[in-house]
Amino acid sequence: MVYGLKEMLQRPRRNRKSEVIRQMVQETHVSAANLIFPLFIVDGENQKTEVASMPGIFRYSIDNLLREIESCMKLGLHSFDLFPNIEESLKDKFATESYRDESLYLRAIRAVKKEFPEACVITDVAMDPYSSDGHDGVVENGEILNDETLEILGKMALAHARSGADIIAPSDMMDGRVGYIRNVLDDNGFTNVSIMSYSAKYASAFYGPFRDALNSAPKFGDKKTYQMNPANQREALIEANLDELEGADFLMVKPALPYLDVIKLIKDNTELPVAAYNVSGEYAMIKAAIQNGWLNEQRAITEVLTSIRRAGASAILTYHAKEVLLNKWL
Ligand code: PBG
Repeated sequence: MVYGLKEMLQRPRRNRKSEVIRQMVQETHVSAANLIFPLFIVDGENQKTEVASMPGIFRYSIDNLLREIESCMKLGLHSFDLFPNIEESLKDKFATESYRDESLYLRAIRAVKKEFPEACVITDVAMDPYSSDGHDGVVENGEILNDETLEILGKMALAHARSGADIIAPSDMMDGRVGYIRNVLDDNGFTNVSIMSYSAKYASAFYGPFRDALNSAPKFGDKKTYQMNPANQREALIEANLDELEGADFLMVKPALPYLDVIKLIKDNTELPVAAYNVSGEYAMIKAAIQNGWLNEQRAITEVLTSIRRAGASAILTYHAKEVLLNKWL
C-alpha cells in the first residue's frame, strides 16, 4: 500500500479510459473546413509534373488544375491557394508578368472561379515567382526597395481581384502593404475581397522545396531584410498589430510547426482569425521519414495538423489537405 493513495481524488487517467470518453473530452478538432490546399500551376496543356522534393505534390496546367480542384471539392475541400511557376523568359525586375491580363496566373484564377464559383480562391501576392532577381521586392544595387514594391503589389492585387479572387494573400513582408492593398481594392470597388496577411513570415530554411517547385529561389543573397528572424517572438506582435490596423481579415504565421508559440501568441492578442502555413519543408520532412518507414503516416500527419489547430490556428494551409480527406484520416 503506497502511503497517501486514498487522498488521490484526482485521477486524470479516468478521462482517458475508453475511446468514447477520450472523444467526449477532446479539445481540438481538425475538419475539411479548416484546410486550405496550396496548388502549383504551370503553363501548357495536360501537364502534371511531380515536385521532386514534395512526393505527391504536382504542378498542374490549367486543364489539370480544374480536374484536381473538382476531385478536392468532392472530398469537401473548398479552399485553394494558387502559386504559379513562371517561365524564366517572362521574368523581369518589376514582375510585370504578374499583372498582365493574359498571364498564366490570371487565366487560372478566372478558369477556377468560372468552373467552381463556390470555391474559395486565395491568391498569392508577391513578386518572387515573376522577378528576374527571385526576390519579393524591387532590387536596386542589391537592396530590396519597400515603397516602390508596394505599387507593384497593388497592381497585382487589383488584377487578382478583377479575375475573381476571394482572398488576397500578400506573402512579401514589405512594410505597409496590407494598408496599401486595402486602399487599392477599396478604391476600385473591391470592398468585399478579403486580405489574409502573411503577418509573421520568418526567413526560414523550410521554404526550399517550394522554391524548387516554382523555380523562384533568390538569385543573390537571402530574404533576411524583409522576412523575420527565427529567433524573434515579440516582433511578430508588431507585425500582427500593424496588419490588423491596416485592414487584414486574417493574420498568418509561417512556417507552422517550428512557430507554434508564435501562433499562440498572436491568437491570444487578436480577435481576428489566425492562419498558419504548414510549409513545403515541413511536408518534405514528414514524407521523407514516412518513405523510410520511420513514422506512421496517418498518425504523424494528423498529429501535426491537430497541433497547429491546438496552438490557435483557425485555418491551415497544408500540402496534406487532400490526402487526409481522401484517406478519411480526420
Ligand atoms: C514567396 C512565398 C514563399 C512561400 C510562399 N510564398 C517562399 C519564400 O518566401 O521564399 C513558401 C511556401 C512553402 O514553403 O510551402 N512569396
